[in-house]
Amino acid sequence: MLDPAKIRQQFPIFAHYPQLAYLDNAATTQKPKAVIDTITNFYEKGNANIHRGVYGLAVQATQQYEAVRQKVAGLIGAPKPGTIVYTTGTTAGINLVAQSFLEPRLQAGDEVVISFMEHHANLIPWQMACKRTGAKLRVIPMSQDGILDREAYRNMLSPRTRMVALVHVSNTLGTINPIEEMISLAHQQSIPVLVDGAQSIAHFPIDVQALDVDFFVFSGHKMFGPTGVGILYGKEAHLAAMPPYQFGGDMIRDVAFEETIFAEAPQRFEAGTMPIAGVIGLGAAVDFLQTLDKTEIRQHLKQLGQAAREELQRIEGLRVIGNAAQATAIVSFVMENVHPHDVATFLAEDQVAVRAGHHCTQPIMDFFEIAGTTRASFSIYNEMWEVEQLARSLKNIQHFFSV
Ligand code: ALA
Repeated sequence: MLDPAKIRQQFPIFAHYPQLAYLDNAATTQKPKAVIDTITNFYEKGNANIHRGVYGLAVQATQQYEAVRQKVAGLIGAPKPGTIVYTTGTTAGINLVAQSFLEPRLQAGDEVVISFMEHHANLIPWQMACKRTGAKLRVIPMSQDGILDREAYRNMLSPRTRMVALVHVSNTLGTINPIEEMISLAHQQSIPVLVDGAQSIAHFPIDVQALDVDFFVFSGHKMFGPTGVGILYGKEAHLAAMPPYQFGGDMIRDVAFEETIFAEAPQRFEAGTMPIAGVIGLGAAVDFLQTLDKTEIRQHLKQLGQAAREELQRIEGLRVIGNAAQATAIVSFVMENVHPHDVATFLAEDQVAVRAGHHCTQPIMDFFEIAGTTRASFSIYNEMWEVEQLARSLKNIQHFFSV
């Protein structure tokens, strides 16, 4: 069994805020000491730029930076470190694929399929690519429970579909999409698939080869690593065929005023000085995550999610938004006659940290005809007392506004 209290001890922030129920993990997770120390050590004892200097510090920094590719490959079951591209986050990875992979092969009348529950980061890049080329964005519909319509998806795929982009876990509803089946359906028609793993990477094991996914993207900061760094996994053949996305130093083999020869992937996608300390810190986050049993993580989060849903559903005037059987510990809700931001402000007074608003998923808000939700999102260091603290505080808020 996962021991959240023991895990919690590895996160220094909770020593400073022992009473805090930090339930905003879908926005960003806290950082274990090992990650913080790795970053501090790098700046104190190892700082140099990579791929450039021949002195000891530079060689060591380069080695550390490159070694993280292997760690990440191990975490997600990628076949080679060369299939791991460092980015600045999930958003950057999706933009890279939309512009470098998809757009050159997109023509007027082609189609790109996304789902109704995409974060704006997995919507706007495809929408822009479609606008620039005259292609059409198709959207998989969703039920009131927050479940994608598989039949509609199946019927949507056609010889005109050039790409499918899907969120693995909805950051707003917590729904876990059946991506194995959805990838397989797309592949039956040779359609490449990108999966946005921002919310799944810290919740359950990912095996990109078993999934046979073409691209998988996620951010370091949602898996206990630093902000400003993320990962794009791409199948080797796709990455090799993609032109660079940004141009500058460290992504070239040879430059003259007339012509430039670019480096191979993944380096050709890493222009300029990359977030070196961030990448090395991400490596420490991967090491940390690898010390935990992924099945136990999944089980723990399932329990917290179910308990939160049950507790919240018992509160009068409170409606949980999204009710998929396959969901993780991300719970959105609205309280009758109280604005989500007010709910979040009152919760903050009771030491419960949540996010309120549209969660960068405005189409979901339009679908449910609401302005926003309040969202509690859990992680490995959360315990049952935090669910109780949340529910207790919500009952008080409900009482306060009803008298
Ligand atoms: N995408 C992050 C969230 O859902 C920021 O809060």
